[in-house]
Amino acid sequence: MAASTGTTPREGWSSRSAFILAAIGAAVGLGNVWRFPTLAGENGGGAFVLVYVAFVFLLGLPLVISEIFLGRTGQDDAVGSIRKVAQRSGVSEAWSGFGIMGVVAAFLIVSFYSVVAGWVLYYVGVMGADFVGALAAGDPLRGALPGESQEAIQGRMGDLFADPMLLLAMHFAFMGVTLYIVARGIGSGIEAAATVLMPMFFVLLIGITIYGAFAGDMGEALAFLFTPDFSKLTSQSLNTALGQALFSLSLGVAGLITYGSYIKGSDGLGSTSLTIAFADTGVALIAGMMIFPIVFAVGLDPAAGPTLVFQTLPFAFQTMPAGSLIGLLFFVLILVAAVTSSISLLEVPTAWGIGEMGWSRTTSALIFGGSAFLVGIACLLGYNVWADVRPLGFWDLFADTDILDTIDGFTGKVMLPLGAFFTAIFVGWRADRRLVQEMTGLSGSWLALWRFLIAWLCPLAVGLILVTGLFPAILGS
Ligand code: PFF
Repeated sequence: MAASTGTTPREGWSSRSAFILAAIGAAVGLGNVWRFPTLAGENGGGAFVLVYVAFVFLLGLPLVISEIFLGRTGQDDAVGSIRKVAQRSGVSEAWSGFGIMGVVAAFLIVSFYSVVAGWVLYYVGVMGADFVGALAAGDPLRGALPGESQEAIQGRMGDLFADPMLLLAMHFAFMGVTLYIVARGIGSGIEAAATVLMPMFFVLLIGITIYGAFAGDMGEALAFLFTPDFSKLTSQSLNTALGQALFSLSLGVAGLITYGSYIKGSDGLGSTSLTIAFADTGVALIAGMMIFPIVFAVGLDPAAGPTLVFQTLPFAFQTMPAGSLIGLLFFVLILVAAVTSSISLLEVPTAWGIGEMGWSRTTSALIFGGSAFLVGIACLLGYNVWADVRPLGFWDLFADTDILDTIDGFTGKVMLPLGAFFTAIFVGWRADRRLVQEMTGLSGSWLALWRFLIAWLCPLAVGLILVTGLFPAILGS
């Protein structure tokens, strides 16, 4: 059970800004550039976006503070950190149980996250080949490849999904990179990766958005994203918006408890957490402003669903000036975002193995990265060989859901909200008040506001949305 092994001091971030960068790297990921535009598109745009932003600041932000508080106070893996806060607060150590659930959720998420990131990797290759073709033809700024129809371009996704070996190779490569970075440790692995990749991500994001503003239809995109039509909101879409807010901020899976445990300083957590929430939400909104102008310019469907980024956009790019180059950069951007998030996911169980089981970092990363790779194989087979398998088919909500979407849906709709619920109850009601005040650095009316949100609003809202989302019959919708 020993958290630190003898004389070796526990790893840590080199500075406060290193932590913020790594935490933004964890938050900004497929959730922002793939899931958020997909869900906003499917749920009618404006109203969903508004609810999402409200959830981020009213429910997400107080939880970000709480998770970092737990990690920084405990200075241990997620389970150990909660246990230590429980001990110092004189309450039952059984509270650390929700940490275990977080570790399991992070493990499950990284297994399918790597499969989806594998698709992105494949598209980097495909778009790269298109661009090389355009270069070879002496026309690097051309969009469409001669002779390629919309069907052919959109058919690439179907070809990929029908080929388990190709999916496997991509998943293997992505998980391999994730595992390598995590095995290198906090400083020379995770922090170093975030320091290089995050600036690269922001440059690409801004660059492609400016391109979209000129080459696409920004007016229609803004209207779609920011004109709310509340008749489009159902209890299901509230549940989806909450799940997305939690997923995007990396909450409910002990990710920020784990990253927070590597903070050595004692700065207040308010501004740090606000920076993370702003950056994450800003990126999601900008990603919408990057993607939808391009989708609308070509007259495509914003509600295409998960294939929006993989089928709709590649076709749109091919019809636009410099499309193959922009397409290539676009998928590099998603890949970069995915790497800095997947390392944070794998770090959660890896830290647990180090802290609770006494394994070395390399062993722990190999065990969890390796097993997540195996679970991911089941996910990718769900698109071909096991296409008929419905793991939770007995449950209405997942009756017609394949393996990957079942794990995504179950973690996002059940485990994350539950994790968030228990975090709120524990920090809001059970943790020692003086400890909380001292370690969050909050005071005065900010402390009072945060306490209200975490003790009352979060448990009530998360609990309500969880129940009505899972059992829509209650609301009759
Ligand atoms: N926040 C990441 C995204 O939006 O893609 C996903 C994620 C990363 C969730 C890390 C949870 C986590 F601990």
